[in-house]
Amino acid sequence: MPIDLNVSVQSREPAGGDQIGLGLFRTSKGFRANVSGIVDLDELYLSRRNFSGDFGDVLNLPALNGQAAVCIGLGEGTKLDYLSLRTLGAKLLRALHGENCAVYLDGIIPKRLDQKKAVASFVEGILLASYRFEKYKSKVNLDRNKGSNQVKNLCLVTSQVQSIKSGVERAKVISSCVAFARDLVNEPAGTMTPKNFESSAKEFLKSSGVEIEIWDEKKIATERLGGVIGVSKGSNEPPRFITLRLNKGKAPVVLVGKGVTFDSGGLSLKSAGGMETMKTDMSGAAAVVGTLACLARLKHKGPVVGLIPLVENMPSGSATKPGDVLVARNGKTIEVLNTDAEGRLILADALSIACELEPAATIDLATLTGACVVALGDKIAGVMGDDTRLVDGLIKSAQRAGEDLWRLPLPDFYRKHIDSEIADIKNVGSPGGAGGSITAGLFLKEFAPPNHWAHLDIAGPARSTVDEGVLQKGATGFGVRTLVEFITSSGAFR
Ligand code: BES
Ligand code: ZN
Ligand code: ZN
Repeated sequence: MPIDLNVSVQSREPAGGDQIGLGLFRTSKGFRANVSGIVDLDELYLSRRNFSGDFGDVLNLPALNGQAAVCIGLGEGTKLDYLSLRTLGAKLLRALHGENCAVYLDGIIPKRLDQKKAVASFVEGILLASYRFEKYKSKVNLDRNKGSNQVKNLCLVTSQVQSIKSGVERAKVISSCVAFARDLVNEPAGTMTPKNFESSAKEFLKSSGVEIEIWDEKKIATERLGGVIGVSKGSNEPPRFITLRLNKGKAPVVLVGKGVTFDSGGLSLKSAGGMETMKTDMSGAAAVVGTLACLARLKHKGPVVGLIPLVENMPSGSATKPGDVLVARNGKTIEVLNTDAEGRLILADALSIACELEPAATIDLATLTGACVVALGDKIAGVMGDDTRLVDGLIKSAQRAGEDLWRLPLPDFYRKHIDSEIADIKNVGSPGGAGGSITAGLFLKEFAPPNHWAHLDIAGPARSTVDEGVLQKGATGFGVRTLVEFITSSGAFR
């Protein structure tokens, strides 16, 4: 569902609003509002209410001058950066109540920051925190849950309308693409099948400038995508392979997304609990669509290709069995010892195709291993790859975008764990799953374009278990902001 909050920019506060938002700096002489003359700052009042003025501390002031205000602490203001501005936007949105609110912006954004990006971060925080997925809630439930967030129109009041507007536009584009990626993931697997993913992506990319090519199950067979066929064999839902193209040109950046619309584990069936969130297993695919849509809307110039294998992983009489051998697109044979390690099988085909495109860089995103959640938790994605410049560039872009990546190694001496008795490679590592994220990464490396490839294991941060900051419980759209930042920031890769 599109974000249901209209953000506008004006030089004066519209009359008749419900609440206003302000920032309060802590100074040696007490508190100072970012804009003076709007509210009375009675020191005694503030201190009695235990308002510290620490970053993010919220204080509700009742209608003093006729209008209720929400004040948010900015600390001394010296540490405000892109990251904290995004958090600030989210906190403010969560603190404001009423349909029509105004936020005074002058004086909040430090001069040392790129003004457009800083405004974009702040407004991204506001917009993403307002995201809800409510299409399956009946009205009675919706009404009961309202109150936490009911802002419909938010006016940013500033003396610099023109320069602020371009930042707001960037935030709207990015947030709407993150929201779309979240929607694809939040939609139940019963409806979000490979075919439905195809039609949703087509609809969203309509007249965006992104070209979309679909391979159906017949074409997938003639194109020899053995991994995709092997995983989808147990399902009644036919697979799809989507190629997205933005701008023609040699040496594109290729983005690959794991699209398992539901991961039951196949014959190596998951437990009931392990399956509960497995509609999330197409988050990599959703992030790739969101990123290309965003790049197109931001008028990015360079060539970018998205490769998205889509399957449902189910057990049945026709399912791939443990011990079966598949032949991937590049001719390598894979012994499937565990049908629950299915992501790497479909990525093997997609990465083989990436090689054929002679890319400048290839980045895959996948909810690939539970081991990565154990290692890094639900806020940090693992990043692996054979190109330190690319990996470092991604880590830095993620920091600016407010997402977290942590590098894991891909040592050659673990490669033997995926040696197969009868085929070129097997799809699981050592017994007990030791180093499970790394063996998965080493498996992908066998198929990826050499030298300029990175793999993001987003199994943890693809979902949130809390409503907090820019996240709502459920899908996060992780990866879209990092990739957009990485691809649009100049000199990020050769
Ligand atoms: N989709 C899962 C990984 C996953 C687990 C994502 C938890 C998000 C949360 C993946 O297909 C999988 O099942 N991997 C197995 C690999 C194992 C069989 C080698 C795993 O992690 O247990
Ligand atoms: Zn699995
Ligand atoms: Zn999976």
